[in-house]
Amino acid sequence: MHLTNEEEQILKGESGEGTQRAMELLVAIGEAFDAERMIPVTRAHAASSGQEGDLYFVEMLAKGGARCKIPTTTNPVVSFEYFQNIMDISEEHEEASVAWKVKHYYKEIGAVMSQSCIPYLAENIPQYEEHVAFSESSATPYVNSVIGAFTNRESIQTALAAGVIGESPEFGLHLPENRKGTVLVRVETELRNSFDYSLLGQYVGKKLGSGIPVFDGISKRPSIDQYINLCAMMNVMGAIPMFYIPGFTVGARTVEEAFMGSTHRDKINVTHYEMKQTNEELQTTNGDIDLVMLGCPHYNLDQMGEVAKLLDGKRLRPNVSFWINTSATTKIMAERAGYVKILEDAGTHVITDTCVDMFCFNNMRGKTGMTDSPKCAYYRRFGNVRVASLKECVAAAVEGE
Ligand code: F3S
Repeated sequence: MHLTNEEEQILKGESGEGTQRAMELLVAIGEAFDAERMIPVTRAHAASSGQEGDLYFVEMLAKGGARCKIPTTTNPVVSFEYFQNIMDISEEHEEASVAWKVKHYYKEIGAVMSQSCIPYLAENIPQYEEHVAFSESSATPYVNSVIGAFTNRESIQTALAAGVIGESPEFGLHLPENRKGTVLVRVETELRNSFDYSLLGQYVGKKLGSGIPVFDGISKRPSIDQYINLCAMMNVMGAIPMFYIPGFTVGARTVEEAFMGSTHRDKINVTHYEMKQTNEELQTTNGDIDLVMLGCPHYNLDQMGEVAKLLDGKRLRPNVSFWINTSATTKIMAERAGYVKILEDAGTHVITDTCVDMFCFNNMRGKTGMTDSPKCAYYRRFGNVRVASLKECVAAAVEGE
């Protein structure tokens, strides 16, 4: 890899040990992927997980004096402020201690403590053709495909390192020639709601594993949460860093344009049968529920409005708890819109800064939960799960079946 004098100096440790470690990682990745040089990136999102591996790297960089050079947002971990009022999350608890330190070091390194898994909607929005370094399952394909920025599918560590250096190795999706479609996905079934987009993402991610799908047959512009669900699930079940829905996403107006002249292409079909089978595979029970978990990825303002409308004037069934995860930014706007009052009057918890895969939900082990998110089902801390649309989750929590 060709490095500039300045980059060589950082690599030798002239800018401090933390910055040196960040550069070492980026150069090693660049060499592994045959990058010829580093290029500037202007924003990053580190999908901080609040777990051991995350702590190891951010602590090493922060203690070594590294500081973020470009806006670098963070993923949700846990809201200590919220949970300390309703359960024992003392710092002696091992997972709590790790999570607390992770938040501490991200703050120290100068990251933006957005603690949201949908930062591209509010706290950290890339522009068209801006080169960035975004990790997080929904973030990478959303940023590449819906916004038209350029990012590789980063890990927490490479995104954080890019945030510190302000550069990324130039390979993969930073190069226009690598952004051509690889698989034609013919959608031969109606996509009725956001949950159907989750099922589509689940099926396509699992079936393809990797590549750049080009969807054909989607005739209506997906809503923002439909895009988010598709993006998230393609990267839980597979590693799909971008996709095309010609006519709606950026970069290609037709299927042919999305393939950029490439004739080597695979093809899969998604019919009602694949969607039904995918749905059935997600369910581990059809019995009574103890809880509903929403907001994985974090609910945006439209979704907060939707769930508030469904719960307006209603009360949850006794012994059913209802959890809605969102970002601090969204919660403020949802409060102004009156949604949070409706939701709290109905008996729900509206939580910010928190991921469903955190120790604060450990007391749900053994309970039966329901969610509109196959991603939540995958990472759940509760026992059996039913996965269905938001409307069905609310119906189960309020009326039983
Ligand atoms: Fe967000 Fe955690 Fe789900 S980061 S997408 S709430 S697994």
